[in-house]
Amino acid sequence: MNAISPIPGAFPQPAPVPLIPETAPFSAEQRAWLNGFLAGLYGGASAGGGAPAAAPEPEEDFPWHDPAMGLDERLSLAAGKPPARRLMAAMAQLDCGQCGYVCQSYAEAIANGAEASLSLCVPGGKATQKALKALVAEAPAAAAPPPAAKATGPALVPIRMLAAHALSGAGSAKDVRNVVLDLDGSGLRYEPGDSLGLLAPNDPALVEACLAALGADGTEPVPCPDGTPRPAREAFLSHLAIARPLDRTLDLLAGAAHDTGEAAMLRKLVDGDDDAEPADADLLDLLEHFPSARPGIADLAASLPGLKPRLYSIASSPLAVPGKVELCVSVVRAERRGRTRQGVASSHLGFRALSPAEGHAAPGDDERTLSNLMPAYMQVSHFRLPESAETPVIMCGPGTGIAPFRAFLQHRAAQGLKGRTWLFFGDQKSSTDYLFREEIEGWRADGTLERLSLAWSRDPGTPKTYVQDRMKEEAADLWRWFQDGARFYICGDASRMAKDVDTTLRAIAMSEGRMDADAARDWIVALARQNRYQRDVY
Ligand SMILES: Cc1cc2nc3c(=O)[nH]c(=O)nc-3n(C[C@H](O)[C@H](O)[C@H](O)COP(=O)(O)OP(=O)(O)OC[C@H]3O[C@@H](n4cnc5c(N)ncnc54)[C@H](O)[C@@H]3O)c2cc1C
Ligand SMILES: NC(=O)c1ccc[n+]([C@@H]2O[C@H](COP(=O)([O-])OP(=O)(O)OC[C@H]3O[C@@H](n4cnc5c(N)ncnc54)[C@H](OP(=O)(O)O)[C@@H]3O)[C@@H](O)[C@H]2O)c1
Repeated sequence: MNAISPIPGAFPQPAPVPLIPETAPFSAEQRAWLNGFLAGLYGGASAGGGAPAAAPEPEEDFPWHDPAMGLDERLSLAAGKPPARRLMAAMAQLDCGQCGYVCQSYAEAIANGAEASLSLCVPGGKATQKALKALVAEAPAAAAPPPAAKATGPALVPIRMLAAHALSGAGSAKDVRNVVLDLDGSGLRYEPGDSLGLLAPNDPALVEACLAALGADGTEPVPCPDGTPRPAREAFLSHLAIARPLDRTLDLLAGAAHDTGEAAMLRKLVDGDDDAEPADADLLDLLEHFPSARPGIADLAASLPGLKPRLYSIASSPLAVPGKVELCVSVVRAERRGRTRQGVASSHLGFRALSPAEGHAAPGDDERTLSNLMPAYMQVSHFRLPESAETPVIMCGPGTGIAPFRAFLQHRAAQGLKGRTWLFFGDQKSSTDYLFREEIEGWRADGTLERLSLAWSRDPGTPKTYVQDRMKEEAADLWRWFQDGARFYICGDASRMAKDVDTTLRAIAMSEGRMDADAARDWIVALARQNRYQRDVY
């Protein structure tokens, strides 16, 4: 893990852009201008995370560039736009970098023919892939790709992982870890609100299983995305993505399959047929499912995408843990076809890195001494505490969304600031999923945290409660905080939670501020324009 090279793509923080709805009392021109203004405002506010690969033209707006918006809505907002923009609207809008681009530059690379794969958008999944296929069928990509469609991303530097404390208690349905990394000597600096990009290796056991299925001993030289050939084992471990093979891998396997039935099924997979098996296959699934398909290992490696960094919201303040950075990582794990699929980075951070010599540590194990290095970069964000300590701060962060708010509160505690802070936190069960409980209760007791509202969605014997239910209960006080100039911060799940909290905020403006729906929408747009509504959602 010591060959560290710049990776393609830049990774700006998602810049949620509030939209002027079609029903708003504006002409189309006024609406376009306002949307453009907001997009510019939000886009500009996210600057600082290294030069974005494809920063929006100042006069162009990207109203679909909001990860909390549904695919259909995004596509309809881009209707009538050039193909590259409609393709962009099909992406997940997270600018997470897993495709090797950001949403805009991936779409542009497809549109101009520089990128042939339509399956690179990891968070968008199958829905994005299908939409991209349909859009490309409507407007085929340009024939000749321009030479340099991919931009250079941030340089990665090695940092050492120190610990991964268990945050979720025994019996929790989740495995959430407080991951601690050492920044000493890395040159990386951060402020609360920033995110850390980490390039974690694949599961060694999965790599071995793939090599065995290929009949390889792992020493065979294979090409890597940075142009340097490496032994197959090293390449599969640290340079190639083996979790989600691309169409070109399926094509290669189909061409190599001696069995006509296997070749036909592989073609169905390429075509995205819903009944094609195995669904959601990783490389091992394909090798096991199609034993007659054995291309040369170098060709197979060349067909695989490069392994990409994952972003994590930072959960610490440099004032509290100088020289270190902490994260709050939910380990992704799912059973599929009798095998446990582990999220590449979250599993490495959560438990795999802890004890490489011992193989897989059991989930729930606590801190261990670590010795491994991981390539990393800092993603500077627009998500920032107010300059004035007097400005009231409302933080809404269920689940791992707590991460930046732990950083905010650590920071304010280290500065000796008291009061004017309100945290909405929630998760499944109070007994097992109250992340950072001791610290939060300590801050509540010493006045760093003025108000705390907790919502447990699966506590036995109590009705399912979400953070927005608590917000509704506290609507009058929340409204008063807003009247006092509060800033509202939200972090966590983009697809459901952030959307529902946004709706709740509007409802509170209507009930407490006696606004109609249009005025509530204008209020939230103004709030965002004043930088008083900040989102870090994924
Ligand atoms: C700005 C930002 C901040 C973030 N902050 C945090 C944070 O603070 N804490 C946190 O825990 N996460 C955070 N995330 C999410 C994080 O970046 C990762 O996406 C998450 O940890 C999963 O990564 P992974 O490598 O473990 O999983 P991956 O290997 O990328 O898998 C991700 C998903 O794909 C599925 N999958 C895996 N293999 C396949 C397959 N073969 N076919 C189809 N589907 C498959 C998995 O089941 C899983 O649902 C953040 C993301 C962003 C963009
Ligand atoms: N694939 C995986 O294995 C896996 C594992 C963990 C997280 N994730 C993803 O990672 C992201 C963050 O996960 P997380 O563990 O931090 O938390 P999370 O899954 O978002 O859950 C945190 C809390 O939010 C609740 N919640 C669910 N829907 C909500 C809504 N519409 N409004 C408000 N609250 C809602 C959850 O309740 P309920 O769950 O009880 O409804 C839970 O109490 C999410 O996108 C999640 O989908 C994936």
